[in-house]
Amino acid sequence: MTKETLLQMAHNAAAFAYAPYSGFRVGAALLCEDGTVITGANVENRSYGLTICAERSAIVGAVSAGHTAFRALAIATPDAHEPVGPCGACRQVIREFAAPEMPVYCEDAENPGTAIIETTAGALLPFDSLHGLGSRDRETDG
Ligand code: THU
Repeated sequence: MTKETLLQMAHNAAAFAYAPYSGFRVGAALLCEDGTVITGANVENRSYGLTICAERSAIVGAVSAGHTAFRALAIATPDAHEPVGPCGACRQVIREFAAPEMPVYCEDAENPGTAIIETTAGALLPFDSLHGLGSRDRETDG
């Protein structure tokens, strides 16, 4: 799967955004370890703080479907006039599951299917802490 294809899938997912309050649609496409792609879109709420970003929609959907290892994440923001990266909350959630070297691509709204930002989960959340608290990281003695 090329990054262009993943970006195009994120772009297509943005069409499903429920964003009547901001008018700002976001789509995400998460490439799982086994090659499955799970997409997500932002879902807003009239109680604004309950809004769920596209990235978290995709991650929660993927984990709920049994995927916990990921190869790449693409994000599309077709309504943006400048490069947009994931919000702080999403960076933390991405790093819950992604290795620091996992690529994150953000689409160039002017050129659908091409990246304007190419970074990594680790670069988006440097000095990440608390990983040792997760049971998935804990050593077991069998
Ligand atoms: N949003 C996302 O879905 N992902 C981001 O990375 C940035 C922000 C959504 C939340 C809200 O529905 C709208 O974009 C405007 O902030």
